[in-house]
Amino acid sequence: MGRFSYPGILGLAPMAGVTDRAFRTVCRLWGAQFFFTEMISAESVLLDLEVVERMLPFEEENTAVQLYGSDPKKLALAARKVQHRASWIDLNAACPVKKVVKKNSGAALLKDLERLRDIVMAMKDVCDKPITVKIRIGFERNELEKIMETLVLAGADGVEVHGRTAVQMYSGKAQWDLKLDRWNIPAAISGDLYTVEDVQNAMNISKASAAILARGALRKPWIFHEFFHGKAPGVEEIRDMFLLHAKLLRELEGERSFYSLRQFVAGYTHGFSGAREFRERFMKLEGFEAIQNAIEEFFNRFLMNVGENKVVKEDGARA
Ligand SMILES: Cc1cc2nc3c(=O)[nH]c(=O)nc-3n(C[C@H](O)[C@H](O)[C@H](O)COP(=O)(O)O)c2cc1C
Repeated sequence: MGRFSYPGILGLAPMAGVTDRAFRTVCRLWGAQFFFTEMISAESVLLDLEVVERMLPFEEENTAVQLYGSDPKKLALAARKVQHRASWIDLNAACPVKKVVKKNSGAALLKDLERLRDIVMAMKDVCDKPITVKIRIGFERNELEKIMETLVLAGADGVEVHGRTAVQMYSGKAQWDLKLDRWNIPAAISGDLYTVEDVQNAMNISKASAAILARGALRKPWIFHEFFHGKAPGVEEIRDMFLLHAKLLRELEGERSFYSLRQFVAGYTHGFSGAREFRERFMKLEGFEAIQNAIEEFFNRFLMNVGENKVVKEDGARA
């Protein structure tokens, strides 16, 4: 196995409840270069829970399976079991949610570096695919140096760093000034990347080799397009991607998928006039056809008014 590097400079960060196969697919079409599944517990993999099959990548390139847990043996076994579905395996040592931390998983691993080391070593031992680790800069305070040294010594192939401590949750500003080129290991920066400029600044400041977008992709799914093309896509493209997203989600989750789709409506209508009223209406719609008709009606209004592929701005927000 040659040296690992992230397969591109801009990826979609893992988000539980968001980065399912449908959202990964639309972000890929917008230009995202690499992907992570939602976090999947090692225990559920070992128990063959039905939900796991739906969460694993299905013939998707450049997609890591993210696992969480606390037991080195279980994580190693789970990694070995799913590695044939993954481009590589990512260990979650970043999640600050109480339910996860209480079980010594997620960001709790940052408080127990021996366990973190044992987990990475155990996974490396049994896996043929690269092992990367997603971290925060520390649990209560910045201990990035110690954490990175531990990961490098344990043999991790790459690290994604969310520039906050776990106790910060999502408060304050994410730190980018992390000098991530100090360690001889590929590193991706995460945290507060909402615009193309944010991505460029974060990469320059952090010296990361890649960046991963989470809330930025949710708020504006075509941010990947903007990054690579220097401009927003046209109304038609946004409409068609929203429709495709609805269709993919329906294939994945069935008729009740419109509930999951609701979390994306703000993103797809970002910057369009009348978006607020539309979102309110959308939240009350039920059924695939109603959703489909509403999406077409909303976007076609702009196409009729200003001509094909013209992007309509709200307060000049989407120049
Ligand atoms: C809804 C949501 C779910 C998330 N789930 C995960 C997860 O499953 N695994 C993980 O490593 N990070 C998860 N994160 C953290 C993100 O990957 C990212 O590091 C963090 O949100 C900071 O980036 P941002 O400012 O671009 O959102 C989640 C974040 C959000 C907002």
